[in-house]
Amino acid sequence: MWKTVTLVLGLVGAVLGAVVKSSDTPLEKNSWALLIAGSNGIENYRHQADICHSYHVMIAEGIPANRIIVMMYDDIAYNKENPTPGVIINKPNGTNVYAGVKIDYKGDDVSPVNFMNVLKGNKSSMKGIGSGRVIESDATSNVFVYFADHGGTGLLAFPNEILGADELERTLREMNEAKRYNKLIMYIEACESGSMFENILAESTNVFVMTAAARDESSYAWYCTVENCLGDEFSIQWMERLDGEDKGSIDQFFHQYQELRPKVTKSHIQIYGDFSLGTDAMTPNNKSPRSSAKSSSGDNVAINSRDVPLYYYKQKLARANDMDSQMKAQQDLDALVEGRKSADQLMEKLVALATIDFPEKISAVSEERMPLSLDMFPCYKDLLHSFRSHCFEHKHAYLLQHYYKLANICILGLDTSKLLREIPSLCAPYKAELKSTVL
Ligand SMILES: *[C@@H]1O[C@H](CO)[C@@H](O)[C@H](O)[C@H]1NC(C)=O
Ligand SMILES: *[C@@H]1O[C@H](CO)[C@@H](O)[C@H](O)[C@H]1NC(C)=O
Repeated sequence: MWKTVTLVLGLVGAVLGAVVKSSDTPLEKNSWALLIAGSNGIENYRHQADICHSYHVMIAEGIPANRIIVMMYDDIAYNKENPTPGVIINKPNGTNVYAGVKIDYKGDDVSPVNFMNVLKGNKSSMKGIGSGRVIESDATSNVFVYFADHGGTGLLAFPNEILGADELERTLREMNEAKRYNKLIMYIEACESGSMFENILAESTNVFVMTAAARDESSYAWYCTVENCLGDEFSIQWMERLDGEDKGSIDQFFHQYQELRPKVTKSHIQIYGDFSLGTDAMTPNNKSPRSSAKSSSGDNVAINSRDVPLYYYKQKLARANDMDSQMKAQQDLDALVEGRKSADQLMEKLVALATIDFPEKISAVSEERMPLSLDMFPCYKDLLHSFRSHCFEHKHAYLLQHYYKLANICILGLDTSKLLREIPSLCAPYKAELKSTVL
């Protein structure tokens, strides 16, 4: 459909002799943007910083403010640990990206259900919640979605809940069937974000997705300073590329991939969905070894997203300038390290229990990164639900990197009934012992 539009516009341009940008769909025309930070807590500063920054990028690119919807917890700007109250920056010495951002949904309203209803344009379901605004798109609209937060195998994290890849797929399918977009472009900054789409997203629905990481790798925090990490690598790269550019078109978001690919150095950005629609060939970003350790280039320090809480508390300890705050910081750090150790132990026990009748499958469950498919989700979500209600909660983001083992249990078709029965008693002692609120 939009190929035809390109052609027609191209002809008009040629006839008029005007310089027509390759853009057939300028952003000020019927484009919508939905920007979501899925985390809270000061150690996750960077996600809300990314989202605030993206708001200004959208405005500069030409999307009118009344067509931008923002979901973010909003506990960072005035957090008592924020050294500059009311200010959020997305790079060292950067401008205040918090200024001017209109947040539609805050706090616990940042939920998967609200996200899906806003995206689908279900206005009645949002009545009385936040601003109540939704994406009011139609078959001619272009929709851009940008999400930044933690992720795990087949899921994205929200402040209190998770969004499964199956739910996102269903939402996109329903939108396609209801003709709620011409083109939908989605950028996802999250660990293992490729697992939300690989084998799951249909290829022919005019949805184009770019993810910060392949299905089995972390994404990386960027601009980590003595205080905190201020951004994420993929997000910083795509936004700084557009900073200071003239008004653009939705196609620009489609075509960034080729240029971003070599620039994102710590993870492998991936594309899914309808990328055959582009005029440039899009080649897959095959895995090559990436250095996983903390590294720096100039002023910049990049850290595996999973290790940011550790980094945050270590920095806090290093900055502590009196005995009391030093002791407190040390206790927080110790509790975090201990919590992570017991989380690892618990996962080992859980895998052993799941494979009790098939011990030869232990290594497959705990080491292989098997591809997902839509039909394993009912089993996987039952396990996740039980795990998250009886063992570790959602704010313990460290656990997300173990979830592929739960997915493997389902993919291999192991019986989960015993596991589901025993998870409460298996987890009770670990839960009781946990002293850190953050992992
Ligand atoms: C940020 O500002 C401080 C002092 O205000 C300066 O020492 C530092 O070099 C600056 N960093 C960057 C990346 O500009
Ligand atoms: C909108 O949301 C309401 C309440 O959550 C639900 O009953 C209804 O089916 C939804 N409509 C669509 C089109 O998804």
